Formats: sequence, C-alpha cells, structure tokens
Amino acid sequence: MGTVRPKIVTVFGTRPEAVKMAPVIDALARSAFDYRVVVTGQHREMLDQVLKLFAIKPHYDLNIMQHGQTLTDVTTRVLTGLEPILQQEQPHAVLVHGDTTTALGAALAAFYQQIPVGHVEAGLRTADSYDPFPEEMNRRLVDRLADYHFAPTQTAADNLSAEGANPAYVFVTGNTVIDALLKVVKSDYRFRDPHLAQLTQSRCRLLLVTTHRRENIGERMAGIYRALRRIIAEHPDVELVFSLHKNPAIRKQVRLALGNTARIHLIEPPEYVEFANLMNHAYFILTDSGGIQEEAPALGKPVLVLRETTERPEGISAGTLWRVGTAEEEIVAATEALLGDTALYQRMAQAPNPYGDGKAAQRIITHLTELLL
Ligand code: UD1
Repeated sequence: MGTVRPKIVTVFGTRPEAVKMAPVIDALARSAFDYRVVVTGQHREMLDQVLKLFAIKPHYDLNIMQHGQTLTDVTTRVLTGLEPILQQEQPHAVLVHGDTTTALGAALAAFYQQIPVGHVEAGLRTADSYDPFPEEMNRRLVDRLADYHFAPTQTAADNLSAEGANPAYVFVTGNTVIDALLKVVKSDYRFRDPHLAQLTQSRCRLLLVTTHRRENIGERMAGIYRALRRIIAEHPDVELVFSLHKNPAIRKQVRLALGNTARIHLIEPPEYVEFANLMNHAYFILTDSGGIQEEAPALGKPVLVLRETTERPEGISAGTLWRVGTAEEEIVAATEALLGDTALYQRMAQAPNPYGDGKAAQRIITHLTELLL
C-alpha cells in the first residue's frame, strides 16, 4: 500500500480569487500534497474565463450564483454546499483567499468540521468595518477563523500581530497576484479582441476605468461618472476604456451615465490576459478594485483609487497609488493633475512595486509543507 499524502482543499468562487489562487494550485500540483479544487461559482462567467485560462478543472462546483443574490444567499449556499464535500474529503487543511463571501463561508464551513484553515492574502485592513462592505468584515472574520496566515506584505503581517495572531503562523509571502500577472503580460502582446487591438493603437492617451464596489453603488458612482464625462469633454486627446462588471445593477447605472458618449468605450469584462495587457497599455487607471491596486504598481501604471478607504497602504507609500475618493471635484482635480504634470506622472509610474516578486505561491506551499508534512 502506498502512503497517503496529506490533502489540501482550495475553495474560491469569484474572478479575483481564481486569478490569485491559480498560482497556488499550480504550485500544489507540483508539491507532495494531494489536493482538490472546489469552486463555489459565486461568479459564473467571470470565474469560468479564469478557470479556462489557467486550465483549472475543479473537482467540485457548487454552482451557487443566482441573479440578484444577497450576501445571505451566498453565505448559506457556500456553507450548505461545502459540508458534505469536507466530510467526504477530510483534508488536512482548507485554503481560502482574501475577503469575499465565498472565503468567509468556506472558512466557517472548515471550522465547523474542525479542519485547519489557511488564509491566502491575510491581514489586509481598513479602519472601517463597513468599507469596503462586506469585505472588511469578511477578512477580519476569516483571519479569526484561520490557523495559518499568508500575509502579502509586512504591513499585513503587522496588522495580524496587532490583533493577537500567533506569530509562528504568520508568514510574509508576497501577493500571488504578481505571480499570475508576470505570466500573462507581454510587451509585444497582440490583442485577440479586434476592438481592444484597435483601442490600444489609438494615438490618444488611454485611461482605463473599473468600478464594482457594493458600497459605491448609487450616489458615489454617480459622482464618479459625472467626473469622467467632464474629463473626456475637456481632453480631446484622451480616450476612456470602461471595463464593465457583470453585476446588472452597476451595468445599468454605467450605461445610463456614460453610454453613447464619444471617446468613452464601455467594454465587456475582457479575459484576464487581455485585461492585464490592457492595463499595460493604459496611460493610467482609475478604479475601486483592490487587485488592480496591486497589479498596477508591478506594471508601472499610476492609479487613482476611487474609494474612501484602502487596505493597500503600501502602494500609497510607494507612490503608485493616489487615493482620491469618490467626490466628483476631487476626481476631476486629480485626473487633471496627472494628465497635465509629467513630473508627477513619472514619479508615480516609477515607484517600486511593494507586492512581491512573483514567487508568493511557492512560498505558501513551502510553509504548508513545513507545517503539515
Ligand atoms: C464579489 C465580491 C468582491 C469582489 C468581486 C470581484 C463578495 C461579497 N463580493 O463582488 O469582494 O471584489 O466579487 O468581482 O464576495 N454576476 C454575473 N456573472 C458573473 C459575476 C457576477 O451575472 O460572472 C452578477 C450576478 O447577478 C451577481 C452580481 O453580479 O448577483 C454580483 O455578484 P456578487 O458575487 O454577489 O458580488 P460582486 O459585486 O461581484
């Protein structure tokens, strides 16, 4: 009889978790561990794109997504769906990522089975439980439930220590998003989508925009979109590419505010490789995304962060990120400054990347090997 290899179950459900867990799964597949991939399907199309790209074939798919799903729907469906899987697989640890409701549900489901939880991208914090909502509380709770903390930066590790996490189980690894990004961005990349190919050859300066945060839906997003219209009206040498999220509530608001406007291009969410290379072609980026705040510094792209808080202070200290908030006047002023002031632009573009060297996933697996093998 062969020896039984310790087993790790990874659980994720949204596009960004899939991008950031793909390098971990790749490293697991080359490790001494047995492993299983469980997707919750909190996102459907956006998740499936990433699974296909990284050739990940989940062992289980809970397929929980419903249109108009509430946080309670997602949490309960993840808990109910995972229970029999964890009972059947009896893994030595469950790995979750970040701050989504899938991550919280999966960490809790593992805790109920008394299975140790490893948290990838542990320790990010804002000072406000409701911002971002519900992610700030999700990640605090996941860290409370987790046994092993894989912090992307020293700042994140310090946050965990300050909350009393056992330092023996807090590891600074870098962020796995950099592992994924370095694999897909190429200076001579040729876009498959003809519209993107054409846009990236434009002589205009390209501003890339995304907005998807729940806490920004409504008046905050309205302010952001008014600012974007003004910027485009005043700068004939600027084009704006707006990558839509699949959330119908946001799509509706964006289309009403920015549809049918010259030099504003609303595009469907591109596949990750196309999106990463689109970031690389942008002059700069305006976003409320967390992941983009980590990716852009590695690409040397300034980011105006359209949020009232950020859990990525490292990018602000390094100089790539500028948190401008969601007020129309502030966004217009910051964008004008960055379009007009070359020295400012260069300072932001040349700031160092604080999020890692592309080897985070291997570090995580090395720590797990020391802990469990
Ligand atoms: C989720 C995460 C957020 C993460 C974001 C990345 C939570 C609470 N939020 O937010 O932390 O930053 O993903 O995108 O976990 N939809 C589709 N197809 C898709 C994806 C979404 O139709 O492929 C629609 C569904 O109708 C769904 C809605 O978008 O009801 C919102 O999706 P949901 O996962 O609930 O929240 P996100 O805003 O995507």
